[in-house]
Amino acid sequence: MTQPKRKLRSSEWFGGDGKNAFMHRSWMKNQGLPDHVFDGRPVIGICNTWSELTPCNAHLRGIAEHVKRGVYEAGGVPFEFPVMSLGESNMRPTAMLFRNLASMDVEESIRSNPMDGVVLLVGCDKTTPALLMGAASANLPTIAVSGGPMLNGKFRGQDIGSGTHVWKFAEDVKAGRMVVSDFLAAEQGQSRSAGSCMTMGTASTMASMVEALGIGMPDNAAIPAVDARRGVLAHMAGRRIVDLVNDDVTISQILTKEAFENAIRVNGAIGGSTNAVLHLIAIARRIGVELNLDDWDRLGRAVPTIVDLMPSGRFLMEDFYYAGGLSTVMAALDEAGLLHRDAITVSGKTVGAIIENAPNYNEEVIRPFNNPLTKEGGIAVLRGNLAPSGAVIKPSAATPELMQHRGKAVVFENIEHYYERIDDPELDIDASSVMVLKNCGPRGYPGMAEVGNMPLPAKLLKQGVSDMVRISDARMSGTAYGTVVLHVAPEAAAGGVLALVRDGDFIELDVAGRRLELMVSDEELALRRAEWLPPIPPQGGYPSLYVERVMQADTGCDFDFLVGRRDAGIPRHSH
Ligand code: FES
Repeated sequence: MTQPKRKLRSSEWFGGDGKNAFMHRSWMKNQGLPDHVFDGRPVIGICNTWSELTPCNAHLRGIAEHVKRGVYEAGGVPFEFPVMSLGESNMRPTAMLFRNLASMDVEESIRSNPMDGVVLLVGCDKTTPALLMGAASANLPTIAVSGGPMLNGKFRGQDIGSGTHVWKFAEDVKAGRMVVSDFLAAEQGQSRSAGSCMTMGTASTMASMVEALGIGMPDNAAIPAVDARRGVLAHMAGRRIVDLVNDDVTISQILTKEAFENAIRVNGAIGGSTNAVLHLIAIARRIGVELNLDDWDRLGRAVPTIVDLMPSGRFLMEDFYYAGGLSTVMAALDEAGLLHRDAITVSGKTVGAIIENAPNYNEEVIRPFNNPLTKEGGIAVLRGNLAPSGAVIKPSAATPELMQHRGKAVVFENIEHYYERIDDPELDIDASSVMVLKNCGPRGYPGMAEVGNMPLPAKLLKQGVSDMVRISDARMSGTAYGTVVLHVAPEAAAGGVLALVRDGDFIELDVAGRRLELMVSDEELALRRAEWLPPIPPQGGYPSLYVERVMQADTGCDFDFLVGRRDAGIPRHSH
């Protein structure tokens, strides 16, 4: 057996002949474990977000079995443990409300238990950042294994994408282009295997971020959940985590500034979700890496989107895997000089070694750099009097003609107000209007709902209008699209200028110039501010803690008291 470079943390629980070691070992032995399990081999925690209420992660107990095989094979001993699971499709008011809570569960589960390294089993959108944030603060050797995407959705001869086709079909029904019975018939075909959304939504984006950051194994992003190679990947992750423990390679040695820079560029190239902006900044701040909105804008500018996947493009994750997956994309970035090749990864290889000679099997799915899907693929960060701390837009999901636009605001005070007004035939709105939604930010909603891609009014859809400028302090589902300005900071509920916008105000959006301006004088804004009343905060329970301590979108919506590393160390024993 390879000897660990330093004394194992788990030996503080299981080593020796004293009363404490007796107690720790004895209780564990009720699971049928022999003596040699506690002979000083690395103890690996498998942090599982399995839940039948998180359909995208419902297969993760099977993945855990593969990880265990690898751990045993490499001379370690695995223990699977559950943490709070965040299912995007079911959780209300929004899974994002619980990301920080789950991260606390992860961090404290790691710190309080006898483990030397941890494998994070993630999948559905928020499970990835929540587990990475918690593990980053604990700073043990760590590998993330994503559950993988579902197989391509199928409906009457065409491929349909998770989320993206829900939005599309719902609009078709609203516009009278599709009957409800057809709409319902698409349900089963959209989600036809285990796995997460198979569009380049937030789950696939975050699985790609895991791979790009080097905290996951090669091919983590794209192998379908039900492909046997996902099991192989999990098995190999089990082997590698034991090596990382033996070599004392902690998560902070992998998640460096260079790793984040690689990930941001990869996000541009894959046309990844705007949610990644929040999550990567939050993870970086946990580990102590300086990362901000300007990094996103600066690093993404030169990066075209070359992956032709929904919601921006045509294909789905299964096609992406068969075309070569993320290594092919990273090889293209490397060729353009846009990658830190020397960044180390949990696989034991550098990024450069992994992507060497990565083939491209389908240039329609992963397009060449000189024939991209969108020239400007990164996330654009906008500033101006309407968003002094920043707002974001995903140019690859927007309509080019609308990226420079001046229009009259149609204001919705909150999401209920939007639903009340949007299909009112009297609503004074046309294709040139700018839809503004307030009070859906981290404190306002609370939890920062994915409602920023407000569906257009039925009367305009029927006229054939397919996109309009929309602005809010909300987030947008990674599976959605449109000229949608999101994450306005400070948010309305925190007294941002967004709170002061009124119907009929002119707003100017200039994506190329990175500007977002409300054309109202400072004097008038001061008068409006004097009349503004903050919303009543939630009374009691977790939501009141959330609203009190959550930070704004530009710093990743973490709790102020969770920023930074609190290495797991060895807690005092209690017996
Ligand atoms: Fe779980 Fe999309 S709803 S990944």
